[in-house]
Amino acid sequence: MQDLRRNYQFGSLVREQLPAEPMALFRLWWAEVEKAELPEWYEINAMTLSTVLPLDSNSEEFGTGASSRIVLLKGLDEGFCFFTNYDSDKGQQLSQHRRAAIHFFWPFFERQVRVEGIVSKTSAEQSDRYFASRPRSSQLGATCSPQSRVIPDDHDLVDKASALDKQFGEGAIPRPDYWGGYRLTPLRVEFWQGRPSRLHDRFRYRRASLESSDWVLERLAP
Ligand SMILES: Cc1cc2nc3c(=O)[nH]c(=O)nc-3n(C[C@H](O)[C@H](O)[C@H](O)COP(=O)(O)O)c2cc1C
Repeated sequence: MQDLRRNYQFGSLVREQLPAEPMALFRLWWAEVEKAELPEWYEINAMTLSTVLPLDSNSEEFGTGASSRIVLLKGLDEGFCFFTNYDSDKGQQLSQHRRAAIHFFWPFFERQVRVEGIVSKTSAEQSDRYFASRPRSSQLGATCSPQSRVIPDDHDLVDKASALDKQFGEGAIPRPDYWGGYRLTPLRVEFWQGRPSRLHDRFRYRRASLESSDWVLERLAP
């Protein structure tokens, strides 16, 4: 791995060309990623979600107190929306500590985006709408999996899902109340564009509170 090395030269970031607020720049980058001809297996909306627990609430149940996993971006409004099990480890961490970070890496464009912000649940209507739009098999999977809990080796999730399928018959699968959406509303967003000789372009937007529309834009050393 010591010899693995790429020289980045796809693009650059110039302050004068950057919009006044970060969601506008994120939407521009997202539109470019969506348009790019990428392999089908490449999940462009995959993002790493990192959650933390304040030190005083650390318990063995949550390991060291910081953890990361991939979730899929499913909506963009004033923040970044994703869906999951509210009782999962991430759900329990977020219920105790609402600050979290998400991270995108789009190697095709030699770009990363880092977002730090405050997480809240999406409305029940928004969660219902998204749940109803999912394939029935995903609805069944989400309903029968006690996400993040330890389960016995012989616990058959496929059996559970098909039993549940039969139970509902022709009827729609209702969204369980332990499953739904979260929105991470940003306080800081950093856009990173790879540059030759490791002299990358980094620009960070930050604001003091969720209510503020006064974004400060700063260039950061690579
Ligand atoms: C490509 C990919 C997409 C994923 N998307 C989601 C998702 O949208 N929601 C979700 O709950 N888990 C998703 N997962 C699974 C999570 O990474 C993780 O295993 C799960 O949410 C449990 O995390 P937790 O125990 O920290 O709560 C995805 C995993 C991968 C690799």
